[in-house]
Amino acid sequence: MHDFAGKTAVITGAASGMGRSFANRFARAGMNVVMSDIEAPRLNEAVAEVAGHGTQVVGQVTDVADGAAIDELAERAFGEFSGVHVLCNNAGVGGMKGGPELINQANWEWVIGVNLWGVIHGHRAFLPRMIEQGEGHVINTASMAGHMPGHSAYTASKWAVVGITEGLYNQMHRDGTGIGVSCLCPGWIRTDIANSERNGPENAAPPALYEPTAGQEAAWQFVVDALEGGLEPDAVADMVHDAVLNDTFWIFTHLDFVAALADKHDSIMENRNPNPMGWLG
Ligand SMILES: NC(=O)c1ccc[n+]([C@@H]2O[C@H](COP(=O)([O-])OP(=O)(O)OC[C@H]3O[C@@H](n4cnc5c(N)ncnc54)[C@H](O)[C@@H]3O)[C@@H](O)[C@H]2O)c1
Repeated sequence: MHDFAGKTAVITGAASGMGRSFANRFARAGMNVVMSDIEAPRLNEAVAEVAGHGTQVVGQVTDVADGAAIDELAERAFGEFSGVHVLCNNAGVGGMKGGPELINQANWEWVIGVNLWGVIHGHRAFLPRMIEQGEGHVINTASMAGHMPGHSAYTASKWAVVGITEGLYNQMHRDGTGIGVSCLCPGWIRTDIANSERNGPENAAPPALYEPTAGQEAAWQFVVDALEGGLEPDAVADMVHDAVLNDTFWIFTHLDFVAALADKHDSIMENRNPNPMGWLG
């Protein structure tokens, strides 16, 4: 896609972090923006900010895990604008803080509901009409966690997003649809993802009596510090904008993380066991 002005971007998880930066970036490029999020007050504030760029901006409270809510979002977006040209399936949660042995079924369902079903619903509700238009671009926010081992709902959801995004890319190109596809795999980005619990169901939390071990606390603090010292979300928004412009599939924010995948890929090519010390998970 080369012309952005007057076209429409739809972004999920747009009230905070990367989604909010994507909304600002596409509005600066002259696009109208449909911003959706599960958090109403923060969404309203973000809509007011993005509207400052002078294009048409609307907000819709949406739980991406709810297929009917995504259908409504698509109806509104296609109803109010001349089409949907950029779709960012971006809303995501990290899961509850707690050791893996305490991550209960409700936590798995919540994380997979938002991170994976959110993307699946986005494809289902938006793509047929985007294909009919013959022009557009889908950006799915996966993660470097989608390339690395880890026994968590987050890892499972992000591996799945990487897989279906590459599958979608193949399908869209083979069929000559005119729809570009990008898979965003961020490393550490300075957002509010460490506080994902704020949007989670109560039954996904660890038991009240749960006391994390010193090792678990240290691992958690490592993640919090890494996020705090991470890349600014606005820098990722520039990468996403350029990926749409240049029809780039992979968007990696941290090339040193990509280099760390070499040994894993070599172990597959050489049919040897993976190195269990190479990863946290
Ligand atoms: N921050 C990082 O380092 C990092 C790294 C890799 C991938 N990611 C991914 O980036 C995406 C954006 O997260 P972020 O880092 O900007 O975090 P963030 O918490 O700042 O933003 C995520 C947004 O998603 C919204 N959200 C949560 N549950 C939702 C639901 N059910 N329906 C709709 N919206 C919902 C939140 O309210 C929030 O506004 C996520 O998919 C996340 O997994 C983040």
